Amino acid sequence: RGGAAAARDLAGRHVVVSAGGTREPIDPVRFIGNRSSGMQGYALARTALARGARVTLVAANVTLPDPAGAEIVRTGSTREMRDAVLKAAADADAVVMAAAVADFRPADYEDVKIKKTPGAEPAPIHLVENPDILAELVRESRDVAGRVIVGFAAETHDVLENGRRKLARKGCDLLVVNQVGEHLAFGRPDNAAVILSADGAAVDVPRGSKEALSDVVWDLVAARMT
Ligand code: CTP
Ligand code: CA
Repeated sequence: RGGAAAARDLAGRHVVVSAGGTREPIDPVRFIGNRSSGMQGYALARTALARGARVTLVAANVTLPDPAGAEIVRTGSTREMRDAVLKAAADADAVVMAAAVADFRPADYEDVKIKKTPGAEPAPIHLVENPDILAELVRESRDVAGRVIVGFAAETHDVLENGRRKLARKGCDLLVVNQVGEHLAFGRPDNAAVILSADGAAVDVPRGSKEALSDVVWDLVAARMT
């Protein structure tokens, strides 16, 4: 699969891709965020467009050039991304959650800038758990035949074992597991991964461009669409 034979194999399909990293505001000028650049999600969007799909790209805090032809929905926080992804997913054939989603957010938002008080201890920031967008997608797609849901996971150790466990817990169809660590994955044009599927298969994707990894993801997604 892949290459010329796969050209336009996503024609007539609507795919939703989330990209970037969500930010959770603390006050008007500060947030809790992560290092995701959005490169992998944008590569997924470009390759899906090249294969003929209609693409909705739900981006959180990405500063990359817009892929021509995608519908781009800009979001900031996890709750904004959740609403945008669930709305776009309503008629989707596939949803790929490539975004790095903040697990927690500050319990309280201060609507004025927090000031320091000389000599006083800083106030702690209490966190609450964010909604799990992927888990909600899986729940809402249970009765939708042929919709393929893909998660991404970054693991620093015991990659296969942690990936298998996460796939089972999340209940998605495919889980793309990246090995991350210093100098690996974040903000780099290349990536290596193992793609686990709910039926027990594992596909090794050797280090290569984020486009190359994207094309393997779409090969596996296309094979599971009905
Ligand atoms: N994800 C999501 N909503 C969240 C957290 C994660 O949709 N609140 C999605 C991510 O976009 C990714 C997948 O779930 O596709 C796995 O994210 P990951 O952070 O690896 O998994 P968690 O379940 O959050 O587990 P942990 O961070 O504890 O390893
Ligand atoms: Ca997480």
